[in-house]
Amino acid sequence: MADPKIIVLNDADDLFVHAAEETAHIAGESICTHGEFTLCLSGGSTPAATYDLLATRFHLSVDWKEVQFFWGDERCVPPDDPESNFAMANRTMLSKLALKPDQVHRMRGEEEPARAAKAYEEELRKHFGGADGEFPRFDLIMLGLGDNRHTASLFPGDSALHETQRMVVAVEVDAAPRKRLTLTPPVINNAQRVMFLVAGQGKAAAVKDVLEGPRDPDKFPAQIVAPHDGEVIWMLDTAAASLLSRR
Ligand code: 6PG
Repeated sequence: MADPKIIVLNDADDLFVHAAEETAHIAGESICTHGEFTLCLSGGSTPAATYDLLATRFHLSVDWKEVQFFWGDERCVPPDDPESNFAMANRTMLSKLALKPDQVHRMRGEEEPARAAKAYEEELRKHFGGADGEFPRFDLIMLGLGDNRHTASLFPGDSALHETQRMVVAVEVDAAPRKRLTLTPPVINNAQRVMFLVAGQGKAAAVKDVLEGPRDPDKFPAQIVAPHDGEVIWMLDTAAASLLSRR
């Protein structure tokens, strides 16, 4: 895997705009290359502004009817729960786009977790095809970084970090809501591109550990992200990058 591309923007607003711009660019490239853009969304709060910009300022920059939306993880709550990653993306972006229902591939957080994980794996298989043992290749997976160094819902010490067969697993994490669904490393690491969006001084130590600390994915789960034939882009604001020795 090539070294990650690190892009440092002045402040969070610049970061959100640049992330939206880069996503629109990747969408255009993907649609030109293979007729669709498979976008895997991150949860949490950081991407909300970028999602809103994609649906407003960059609305005309993307051929939305060719975009397929997926999630990297989901909390085991109903889709209208304020904690739901789907709810956040729907409020900020999806509800503002004239999408067909079959463009939105929601993880069903309201269902029994193990069953929901299996169902999502079948949804991925149905869309991406591939033989047994093959993993979906997303055009872009957006990820965040927790201050405990987690990404998606891959948390420190979790056995999901070492999953090699399943595409989606149900986990119990040390954060509320505890029960979650998450893509596994083999899926994330089969992506064409992964884009981390990280903002704020509160993430600086986590960014430093993940990018410049000793390699220890059990301690720093975001280090597990290393696409074997893909690019990793770290989009940071100055505050989140402030402890890095090289930028
Ligand atoms: C989730 C996310 C998670 C998130 C980080 C950062 O479901 O919470 O997928 O991995 O990206 O926890 O969250 P913030 O953007 O809210 O800091």
